[in-house]
Amino acid sequence: MIIITTLTALLSGACNAALIALVNTSLNNAKWSVAVLVGGFVALVLGKTITNILSQVLLARFAQGAVSGLRRDLTKRILGVPLRQVESIGTHRILVALTDDVFNITQALLAIPIITVNVAILVGGAVYLGLLSWKILLGIGVLVVFGGISYRIMMTSAFKSLNAAREEEDKLFSYFRALTDGIKELKLHRSRRKVFLAENIHDTTETFQKYNVEAECRFIYAQNWNHLLFYLLVGCVLFMMPKMGQVSHAAMTGYVITILYLMGPLAGVMGSMSLFGRASIALQKVEELGLSLAAASTEEAVINKTEREVPFRSLELINVQHAYRHEKEDTNFVLGPIDLKFGPGELVFLVGGNGSGKSTLAKIVTGLYFPEVGEIRWNGKRVDNSNRDDYRQLFSAIFSDFYLFDNLMGLNRPDLDAKAKEYLVQLHLDHKISVKDGKLSTTSVSQGQRKRLALLTAYLEDRPFYLFDEWASDQDPLFKDVFYTRLLPELKARGKTCFVITHDDKYFYMADRVIKLDYGKMEHLNQLDGEALGTLIPATR
Ligand SMILES: Nc1ncnc2c1ncn2[C@@H]1O[C@H](COP(=O)(O)OP(=O)(O)OP(=O)(O)O)[C@@H](O)[C@H]1O
Ligand SMILES: [Mg+2]
Repeated sequence: MIIITTLTALLSGACNAALIALVNTSLNNAKWSVAVLVGGFVALVLGKTITNILSQVLLARFAQGAVSGLRRDLTKRILGVPLRQVESIGTHRILVALTDDVFNITQALLAIPIITVNVAILVGGAVYLGLLSWKILLGIGVLVVFGGISYRIMMTSAFKSLNAAREEEDKLFSYFRALTDGIKELKLHRSRRKVFLAENIHDTTETFQKYNVEAECRFIYAQNWNHLLFYLLVGCVLFMMPKMGQVSHAAMTGYVITILYLMGPLAGVMGSMSLFGRASIALQKVEELGLSLAAASTEEAVINKTEREVPFRSLELINVQHAYRHEKEDTNFVLGPIDLKFGPGELVFLVGGNGSGKSTLAKIVTGLYFPEVGEIRWNGKRVDNSNRDDYRQLFSAIFSDFYLFDNLMGLNRPDLDAKAKEYLVQLHLDHKISVKDGKLSTTSVSQGQRKRLALLTAYLEDRPFYLFDEWASDQDPLFKDVFYTRLLPELKARGKTCFVITHDDKYFYMADRVIKLDYGKMEHLNQLDGEALGTLIPATR
């Protein structure tokens, strides 16, 4: 396809050059008959138009295909980045890559058809000029090299500005996130809103604008500088060549017409340089996101693997440790060392104060964070990069910052709607929400109800290991009671392992074991019976 496209583009360029030659010949009272000239003219115009259309259509298809591929590839790659890395890259950076960077790359790709044709016209023109007089072409060559070098110098400084603008864009997107996520807080507080607008948004947009204008100006200067050189060329041919008396009148008019004709395509090619500049910076950024992952790349998104039953007999954490490294702080939080074992049908509670490391431990147990020290053993086998994604299929988890999909994606069971309806009744949601073809009628409900919907999804997933991160904290007392005294024992009776992060000391007696975390250090409290635990562990809320 690339070969066909290049050939048609070159053919189009050749037709163009021949057309100029024909025009020049007719202007210079050629010996050919009018019929031949008209016939040639028509044939060349048709040839040029057809090859033009063909090459542009082919290239447009290619460019659009490349854009779709890029979007898919980027999404796949983001799914393959370890969670810890996504958290440290920051959602706003990923958003810029997915929106603006992809857009900039797209723009450049879409400009390729026009540029290719323009370049073909320039090449055709140059060949024709060479045929007219190779001496002048040599002169032009020297001028082009000089123009190219000066153009390059101007471009380098334009690129610097573009890079700086792109850095500002990352910052701008982080403020956009603050705007959408923090809209309530901004609406409620006038001075906060004022500072947000005046300092964050205003300053960043202004700097962003400044760098962009700087870059665009440099592109404009560079383009016009090259135009100037072209006119210098026309001037030389027009006024100096006749004095030197070496070139025929026909060659001279041919030169002037061709050079003037080539100005348009040249301006087109140079005008698109700013597009390519932006695209190359965007590509670099996308690569950086991909590469920063490649450096620590430890997992691949295993998308095409077929779902199958994951066996669960035991899960063991051996000497596991995890630390968050804060660049600006000396005191890093360290979780562990932790030794912990789970078997099927166990109900284990995890308690501890705020910031004691409960959610971090939950992410390690579920395979979302990799232990920096120590190891996890699943059915006696060490969990590593080769089986981590399989391992993660053991879990149905509801984290405190869970996301609720509005359709029950990926749950391919024949009784999906019927089962979902049954659970909606059990979770006291049937009066509010219905399910049809695996799609929930709404997810815009109260926070407590949304958590019940998340529980519905977890039920339908029907996996061996359930993890709840403070699931009950938003539930009313009545349903809290249902959760601890009915739903959890039911799951246990079905052989499911439940790891429940909780502050509800009233229900500690329900657990087989209670584990406590204190600033990352673990204590087993299983030697005491449940009732005694309730009085021993101070309520953290
Ligand atoms: N993404 C992160 N980057 C850096 N530090 C983090 C991150 N997430 C948590 N921490 C730190 O790790 C420690 C443990 O946090 P974690 O969320 O595990 O606590 P928790 O026991 O779940 O608390 P809570 O009861 O408030 O939910 C805290 O000191 C917290 O500041
Ligand atoms: Mg937590």
